Amino acid sequence: MLACSFLLFFAAIYHSVIGGVDRVFNNSAIDVITNWGYPLEIHIVLTKDGYIIDLFRIPHGRFSNGNSSCHRPAVLMAPGVVGGASQFFLNPPESSPAFILADAGIDVFLLNYRGTTYGKRHITLQPGNNKFWQFTLDELAKYDAPAAINKVLAVTGKKSLYWIGHSQGTAVGFMTLADNPKYNRKVKALFQLGPAGTSGYAKGMMRFAFLAFKNIKPLVDLYRIALGSHEIIFGQDSVYISLCEFSPFNVSGVCEHGIYSLFDSLTISLNATQESELFAHEHSGTSTWILLHWAQMAARQTVEHMDHNPIINLVRYGQETPPPYNYTNINVPVYLFWSKDDWMTTAEEIEHIILKMLRKEIVKGGREIPRYSHADFIEATDCADMVFNPISEIIRKQEIGMCDLYE
Ligand SMILES: *[C@@H]1O[C@H](CO)[C@@H](O)[C@H](O)[C@H]1NC(C)=O
Ligand SMILES: *[C@@H]1O[C@H](CO)[C@@H](O)[C@H](O)[C@H]1NC(C)=O
Ligand SMILES: *[C@@H]1O[C@H](CO)[C@@H](O)[C@H](O)[C@H]1NC(C)=O
Ligand SMILES: *[C@@H]1O[C@H](CO)[C@@H](O)[C@H](O)[C@H]1NC(C)=O
Repeated sequence: MLACSFLLFFAAIYHSVIGGVDRVFNNSAIDVITNWGYPLEIHIVLTKDGYIIDLFRIPHGRFSNGNSSCHRPAVLMAPGVVGGASQFFLNPPESSPAFILADAGIDVFLLNYRGTTYGKRHITLQPGNNKFWQFTLDELAKYDAPAAINKVLAVTGKKSLYWIGHSQGTAVGFMTLADNPKYNRKVKALFQLGPAGTSGYAKGMMRFAFLAFKNIKPLVDLYRIALGSHEIIFGQDSVYISLCEFSPFNVSGVCEHGIYSLFDSLTISLNATQESELFAHEHSGTSTWILLHWAQMAARQTVEHMDHNPIINLVRYGQETPPPYNYTNINVPVYLFWSKDDWMTTAEEIEHIILKMLRKEIVKGGREIPRYSHADFIEATDCADMVFNPISEIIRKQEIGMCDLYE
């Protein structure tokens, strides 16, 4: 297993450095939104450190012309590590989070992080340059999230928005408010789906990957210092296909169910007819340093900033060790949606990390969903009933004069 995760890690780097290909989308994320009959706006966001990312907006639902005088609260959705905004509209409208919320009268904004398909630009750096990829969770929380929040507020003229995060998107939400407490005034509530703590309690392949990380850490440090950072691509057409052609790797249904099945319990409710479309959109890139950051937090069971090296740490943080994130600073209502069958965010993770770090009085609701895998929160055919209708009802209770389906 150790050798396996090692292989996976370096195969991914190999692929992105040497075998990188331009990926062709048959059906771009943009086409998918408009083909289902939804309006789409793309707002360009410039981060303080020079990245240019696309912020998608679905300003109203497909049964509305957007002209009524009713009120549409703004929601910013932050995806997980393996993708960009497209993770929120992989399914038909009835089971796609972004569409469910737009039809419920919400002004939906979808964040694409730097490094993903719609975040591959920078004012001076090219994605072919290693420097482009030198970012961790810290930069997503320090630059991408605040820039996106400010853009949403500027575009809508509103004073605050709701944050809906999935997986890594939950961590980015927590970290943003922890490190930059003035953003507590710009966020009305955090809805956290498959909430991520350190991922130190993950089950499945992830556990082995992190164990391996502990053992090969000197090698990883060497890589980080000598080679910088690289793009890592997730998805069927890259690492995955090359590995599946290598028969020893094709075991226990991995090549049929997707590489994801190594990391998550098999989803019970995924609409299998969507799988090819799903993979066509899910293979956004990210930086190897993001994975190292997760591995570091998992190994130390602490939500903290990236440990670069004592000298760089001193420059960045004013101390030789990476400071933990102070979740006591978070001061908005938090709603946690989780499942005992989620291998990435286990019940232990919620209990030992997340609930220990957050102030008790801000945790407004914990909703345990039976038999959900980590991906099910955003992909399951019943995610409207289990997750997104409950969220829009909570929002509706707080917002006077909110639009309805046909308004
Ligand atoms: C919305 O209203 C404006 C004028 O108030 C009008 O020009 C526009 O065509 C309307 N749009 C739709 C989709 O009905
Ligand atoms: C993996 O193995 C199964 C049989 O166990 C086979 O049907 C499938 O085509 C293989 N997948 C790939 C990508 O080679
Ligand atoms: C799965 O998706 C297809 C294609 O959109 C749809 O026709 C079918 O009803 C969906 N199945 C379920 C269980 O939602
Ligand atoms: C975390 O922030 C709270 C205020 O929100 C402060 O009282 C506390 O001292 C901080 N903890 C650390 C370790 O800095």
